[in-house]
Formats: sequence, C-alpha cells, structure tokens
Amino acid sequence: MTATASRDADQLLALMRSRRVTRSFTGEPVAADDLRRMTEAARWATSAGNRHLHKFLIVRDPERLRLVRSAAPGMLAPPPALIVILTDTEVAARESMQLERDHSSWIDVGTAAMNMMLLAHALGLGTCPVTSFSRSAVSVMLDLPPHVIPELMVMVGHPTITDRGLRSGAPKPVTAGELTFWEAVGAHDPPASERRGAAGLPTDGSSLPSKPGAPTA
Ligand SMILES: Cc1cc2nc3c(=O)[nH]c(=O)nc-3n(C[C@H](O)[C@H](O)[C@H](O)COP(=O)(O)O)c2cc1C
Repeated sequence: MTATASRDADQLLALMRSRRVTRSFTGEPVAADDLRRMTEAARWATSAGNRHLHKFLIVRDPERLRLVRSAAPGMLAPPPALIVILTDTEVAARESMQLERDHSSWIDVGTAAMNMMLLAHALGLGTCPVTSFSRSAVSVMLDLPPHVIPELMVMVGHPTITDRGLRSGAPKPVTAGELTFWEAVGAHDPPASERRGAAGLPTDGSSLPSKPGAPTA
C-alpha cells in the first residue's frame, strides 16, 4: 500500500468513527446543495443487480415535517430536513423482483443511507436514520403515489452544541475486534505474524511497517 493510500484510508476511517447519530438540531436550514450532494453519495452506493430501485425524496417544508413527525415515534427531534428513501415498486416489477422475498432491496436502503450519512458528516451536518414510523401515514402525509413505499428516513440538520458534544462522546463500547472473526467463527485474531499490539506494532517481533495514528480496534 502506498503512503497516500494508507493516509486516505486512515482519514476515511476517522470520518466513520467520528460519526454519531444526531438527535438535536439547530433551526438553521440545510442548503439544497448539501442535500443534493447527499443524494449523489446515495446514488453511488452499491445496488444489488445494479437495479437502483430506490428514490430519494427531500422534504424541507416545516408543516410537512411536522406532520411526518406526528406519525414517526423514531423522530426524537424536529429536523430541518428529511430524506425519505423510497422503494419504487414499478422498477421492482420491471426487474421481475419479488420484494417480499428478495431482501437485497432492503440492504440497498442501508447502503444508500450510510453513504448519505457519511457524506453529511463530512459536510459538518448531523443525521439520524429513522425506521420507527407508520408507512401508511407517512405515505398520506407526503402525498406519495401508490407505487412508492417509504422505507427509511434520514433526518438531516446542523447539530446543536450539546449534540456536537454527544457526537464526539463514547459510543457503545464494542470494538471491531470483538465483532470480527478470522477464518473461523470464534477466532478473533489474525495470524501471529500480522497481529498488531496497542502501539500498532506486530506482536511477534516481525517488522510490519507501523502506521502512525492507525486505529487499533
Ligand atoms: C435500521 C436503523 C433504524 C434506526 N431507527 C432509528 C429510529 O427510529 N430513531 C432513532 O433515533 N435512531 C434510529 N437509529 C439509530 C441507531 O439507534 C444508532 O445508529 C445506534 O444507536 C448507534 O449510534 P451511532 O450511529 O451514533 O453509533 C436507527 C439505526 C438503524 C441502522
């Protein structure tokens, strides 16, 4: 790996690690260009079969946001903007997909949402995904045509000072190492020659180059 690639990877990982959900927003509006860039990020997420079943509905009208929130217990704070990820059942039908059996569509919702939220974080915005809402009520409140289904909503806004503090605070203390197995379930370590200690150095005394600042978990 080149030094530049390693630095880029460290920067990307730092961005991922510092993103926390935001549940408290200032009243500052979100610029259209920022929302457009978030949907651009979603467009470049992986898509099963390259089908691109999903559409992204941006909502900023305060009255519509208020109505949607009344049907969404998962929206713990009023956001200045919302991006609703919709499944387009017409595209699904064209692609001969059986949505009730094919879970790849739901996976695509997650990858699109994650790309959006990371891009928003890079822009200094806060986000929170929401799935706790009434699909039928939200469909009515947003005048959705019958062929689109709201799957997940991403609240977007400028985090309050308090929430900025929370975002940089400690998340649930689970490490990537605890969630990862090497070759077999239960085996938490890579081969000894590739293990790194707390200082980022291999634990068997061999000479893997160290990466300053690289996360150890
Ligand atoms: C599929 C999904 C649905 C979620 N739904 C909600 C929700 O309805 N309301 C909410 O406040 N947070 C929701 N969250 C956010 C999670 O609670 C949050 O990601 C988790 O607590 C970890 O926090 P972090 O992302 O800041 O690390 C959801 C997350 C996912 C992935």
